[in-house]
Amino acid sequence: MARYQTGIAGLAVHSTPAAAAQDLAQRIIDLVRVKPDAVLGLATGGTMEPVYAALIAAHRDGLSFARVTSFNLDEYLGLPGSHPASYRATMQRLLFDHIDIDPANTHLPNGMAANLAAEAEDYERRIAAAGGIDLQILGIGRNGHIGFNEPGSAAGSRTRAVNLTASTIEANTRFFAEGEAQPDRAITMGIGTIMEAREVAVLATGMSKAQALSQALTGPVGPACPASILRDHPVASWIADAEAVSLL
Ligand code: GLP
Repeated sequence: MARYQTGIAGLAVHSTPAAAAQDLAQRIIDLVRVKPDAVLGLATGGTMEPVYAALIAAHRDGLSFARVTSFNLDEYLGLPGSHPASYRATMQRLLFDHIDIDPANTHLPNGMAANLAAEAEDYERRIAAAGGIDLQILGIGRNGHIGFNEPGSAAGSRTRAVNLTASTIEANTRFFAEGEAQPDRAITMGIGTIMEAREVAVLATGMSKAQALSQALTGPVGPACPASILRDHPVASWIADAEAVSLL
């Protein structure tokens, strides 16, 4: 696997997005091999699509997810799980429908909940009841968001309903049909929730992530760039391709 050093601790750089995605997938595969009942924190976004394809390939080669539990970072508000752009439907399509994970053990916040505060509290309770998250994988927004924790989100924030910024809505328009109404709110694990995972791994690929990755790794640690707060995590790794590190 082609990798080169940047001098930034915990950062692995690959020449292509495919190699970077394979690296993250391999870390998940290795974890599930040694801990078949691992609790995985999962993420959506285009960046993760090749990661999930690699997990499906590993399953076809014999890896079982039958005892794995998963918690996704976030979900849009107001989209039922049957809507193709909902993160529930996305996870089913990209991963869950193709592996042997027990559907009852796949968790996403419910963006249709009548009482969002209660749903948020319940999500936190479910994570705790599962024993906490072993490995949380994360993409990064162009503005440095993680999950749907937009700039300004507090380091100690918990699962909650949030408003999306115009830039995030714009970046995700491609997942919706033309002219279709797009949610401007979501329910997301908080930064504090994410920081409680025993290990976090960020995947950033492509030029569109170069600015955010540079801010996250070399800018001040704080809410202006939510991903920067992950530098305070004791077991954080960063996996990127050459384009995403081009501004470092
Ligand atoms: C989305 C998701 C994030 C994701 C990010 C990047 O809005 N809520 O969890 O990491 O934006 O998405 P993409 O990989 O499509 O660039």
